[in-house]
Amino acid sequence: MDISQLRVNGARLRNTLEEMAKIGGTPGGGVQRLALSDEDKTARDLFVKWLKEIDCEVIIDEMGNIFGKRAGTDDSLDPVVSGSHVDSQPKGGRFDGILGVMGALEVMRTIHENNIKTKRPVIIVDWTNEEGSRFAPAMVSSGVWAGALDKEWAYARKDINGKTQGDELERIGYKGSVPAKAWPIHAYYEYHIEQGPILEKENKTIGAPKGILCLHWYDIYLEGEANQVGPTPMEGRHDALCAAAEMILKVNETPEKMGGNMVSTVGEIQNYPNSRNIIPDGVHFTVDIRSWDDDLAVRAWESMKKEFQEIADRRGTPIRMEETWRVEHAPFNDKLVKRVLETSEELGYSNLYMVSGAGHDASYMNQICPTAMIFVPSIGGRSHVEVENTTWEDCEAGANVLLHSMLKSAEEE
Ligand code: GLV
Ligand code: MN
Ligand code: MN
Repeated sequence: MDISQLRVNGARLRNTLEEMAKIGGTPGGGVQRLALSDEDKTARDLFVKWLKEIDCEVIIDEMGNIFGKRAGTDDSLDPVVSGSHVDSQPKGGRFDGILGVMGALEVMRTIHENNIKTKRPVIIVDWTNEEGSRFAPAMVSSGVWAGALDKEWAYARKDINGKTQGDELERIGYKGSVPAKAWPIHAYYEYHIEQGPILEKENKTIGAPKGILCLHWYDIYLEGEANQVGPTPMEGRHDALCAAAEMILKVNETPEKMGGNMVSTVGEIQNYPNSRNIIPDGVHFTVDIRSWDDDLAVRAWESMKKEFQEIADRRGTPIRMEETWRVEHAPFNDKLVKRVLETSEELGYSNLYMVSGAGHDASYMNQICPTAMIFVPSIGGRSHVEVENTTWEDCEAGANVLLHSMLKSAEEE
C-alpha cells in the first residue's frame, strides 16, 4: 500500500476519547482522574485491555508507567516512542494528557489493522502522575525513568491525606517489577493540546513547539499564633494567613518587576485551623515559576525569597521555604521539530512554530533522547478546567501528524 495515503480513523479516536471521558467524568463536563486514584486505575485497566486487543506487549515498570510495544522488523534497533498521561487535574479537562495516549493508541491501531511492518519497534506509553497535583512534583515518573529523579524519593511523596505515592501505586496494582530505567530511544513524540490561546488566535491547526519552559516549584510553610478573633486586639497579632496574603501578591507582581518573559503563580493553599473565628496559626502555599530563561526564574525566586522573609519577620510568623522541584527549560530536537512542521505541511494542515508554556513528560524525555511535540488548538485557550475543549477534527489532524512523524522515524537507519 501507499503509506503516504494512510490516515487514522477519526471517528474511532473520538469514541475512544469519549469512553475515557466517562472515567471520572464530572457534572461540569470535565474529568477528575487524580494520579493513582480508583479512576486512574480504571483508565489504566482499559488502556491495557485496548493494548492487548492489538497484540501489543504490555510492560509495567516500578513507577507504574505502562508501555505497549509493537515489534519492528529489526527489533535490535532503538524504538520510536510516543505517549503522555491519563491522570488529570482536580476538575480537569477531557483532553489534557489523554489525547496524547489515545492519539498514540489510534496510531498503533492504524498500523496494526493495515498490517504495517515498521523497521524499528514502536512503543506507546502512559506516564504515571504527570500532573503533580495530588503528589508533587509533576512529570515524576518520566523524571525517574530518565534518571533525573530518585525512585525512593518519588515513592515517599505524600498527598494531602498523608498517603504515599509508593503505597498508592501498590494499592491500585500498578507497581510493576520492571526497572523504571531508560533504555535507548530513537525518537520521542508527545501529542498534546496546546493549553493556551495561540493556535486559535493564529488560526492554525498544528503547533510544533521549539521546546518547553523551565518549571520551578516551591512549598512555603508559615507559622502564626492562634487565638479567639473577638477579644484579641488587632495590634500584636501573628496572623499566618495575612502574611501569606502579602506574599501571594508579591508572587503575582514579580514577573513585571523582572521585566517579563516569565510567569509565577500561587495555585494551592491550606489554612489552619481554617475556622472563621480563629486567627490562623498555619499556612502552606505553593509557588510555580516558569520561563524560557532558567537564570531569570532563579533570580525571580531569590527576589521572592527575600521579600517573603521580610514579611515573615515583620509579622512575627516564622517561615520555612522548600525548593521542591526544578526542571530546566527543554529545547527540543531541531530535526524532529522540523519533521512535525513538514509532515503537517504534507498532510495539508496549517502549522506554527511556537513554544510550550505547559510542562510535559517530553521535558524529561528531551534530556535522554531526540524529542518533539505536536500541539492542536485549545478552544478559547482554556485548559486545566472542565470546559477544556478541542474539535474532533483537530484531534484527528494531530493524530495524523503523529502517525506520519512516527512512521518516518521508524523507517530510519
Ligand atoms: C502540567 O500540567 C503543567 O503544570 O504544566
Ligand atoms: Mn498534560
Ligand atoms: Mn496538565
